[in-house]
Amino acid sequence: MSKADLIVGLQWGDEGKGKIVDHMAQTHDYVCRFAGGHNAGHTIVIDGKKYALHLIPSGVLNPTAKNIVGNGVVLSPKDFIKEMVQFDNLDGRLFLSDKAHVLLPYHALIDQAKERLKGDKAIGTTGKGIGPAYGDKIARVGHRLGELLNPEKLTAKIVAYFEMNKPVFDAMGVDAPVESELLAELQGYKDVLGKHITDTTQLMWKIMDEDKKILLEGAQGTMLDIDHGTYPYVTSSTTVSAGACSGLGINPKDIGKVTGIAKAYCTRVGNGPFPSEDFGAEGDLLRKNGHEFGTTTGRPRRCGWFDAVAMRHAVRVNGVDQVSLMKLDVLDGFDEVKVCVAYEVDGKEINYVPYELEDATPIYKSFPGWDKTEGVREFDALPDTAKSYIKALEEMIGTKMGIISTSPEREDTIIR
Ligand code: GDP
Ligand code: IMO
Ligand code: MG
Repeated sequence: MSKADLIVGLQWGDEGKGKIVDHMAQTHDYVCRFAGGHNAGHTIVIDGKKYALHLIPSGVLNPTAKNIVGNGVVLSPKDFIKEMVQFDNLDGRLFLSDKAHVLLPYHALIDQAKERLKGDKAIGTTGKGIGPAYGDKIARVGHRLGELLNPEKLTAKIVAYFEMNKPVFDAMGVDAPVESELLAELQGYKDVLGKHITDTTQLMWKIMDEDKKILLEGAQGTMLDIDHGTYPYVTSSTTVSAGACSGLGINPKDIGKVTGIAKAYCTRVGNGPFPSEDFGAEGDLLRKNGHEFGTTTGRPRRCGWFDAVAMRHAVRVNGVDQVSLMKLDVLDGFDEVKVCVAYEVDGKEINYVPYELEDATPIYKSFPGWDKTEGVREFDALPDTAKSYIKALEEMIGTKMGIISTSPEREDTIIR
């Protein structure tokens, strides 16, 4: 029986998970998404051609890999179908959990209305409806993908739901769907997605029994996790390793090697604490060199330095076996590179993530920079100062950096 390898984001998302999932998909039979929705955005570059994926697992670019979307995901049929049309034939290689929750256009309207009402306390969500869809799931008033197979029944259920919650929807300015239009919409989703909807829990057990090579694909990042991130400035799902079990119906003993993805610096999109954020010229340069603009919303990402304290937290929470260090080339040309090695809170130095990360001031250590790592494919060919930087990070976080990425291209990847 095989164990599943797991990929998980260690920072605030956008670490470059898509590139590594795509790279590893070449040697795996199945790629399985376990959490999040189309708030995720993964840009993958193969031979100069760019692909943007949101919810279809990043294994889809590899013709031999099959793709599973697990029960832990919230799936917008409308956006999923839009994404599917990029690919020729997904028959027999795309499986959607009947227990995944359906995200409908009204969830996005509620998300946006709630953000407006929060004013300067807004989370800075992607506005895609993720919070409201997970909220419905936890409140036990959600709709599962399996229900799409009976559009008449699901339409009646949604209409009743709107009637029951009319005052709330009215207050938020969200109109109830017109019954006949809703039925037609759901019927259309069934026509396209119906044949892909299945019991993916049974499928996971079967492919493990058959000794298939399985890769589990995390979305978002550890610091955005609903429990272990910077609450309430987080997403609404379990983004850490543990989410792979509940999000796919497997158990902890089914998990094999855990690869955590981290940038050689740090970014965050949306609001909330980010101790090592650089508000000056160097932050701007990281944004420019790293093309740090969101794949999903196009928003400029906030940029700063590698945070070794938050990384140690992430390594432990996820049980990381190796880190894949991404975008090393973005630091090319900096005279010096900083790392946040500890925080100061109330005049005291601490080396863990405190309850209120907002209160933490970073303590930095500087490292000499280097000219060029872009496109380098061998560890020994890296400049000495870049090697020293990587080794220093490894020591600080107590974990090997087994993969180093030096460009967006699939092949510009050092495996150690
Ligand atoms: P994900 O959400 O974790 O999959 O990451 P995103 O796709 O949102 O953001 C990562 C961005 O960095 C994408 O545009 C990638 O093409 C790009 N990228 C990935 N690895 C590297 C790298 O090593 N160097 C550079 N310069 N870009 C990279
Ligand atoms: P990938 O998979 C970066 C952020 C949003 C916001 C917060 C809550 O590409 O790494 P939500 O719409 O989920 O309710 O927004 O979470 N966020 C991400 N940031 N990468 C992502 O995914 C993200 N998914 C959500 O910007 O701050
Ligand atoms: Mg992304």
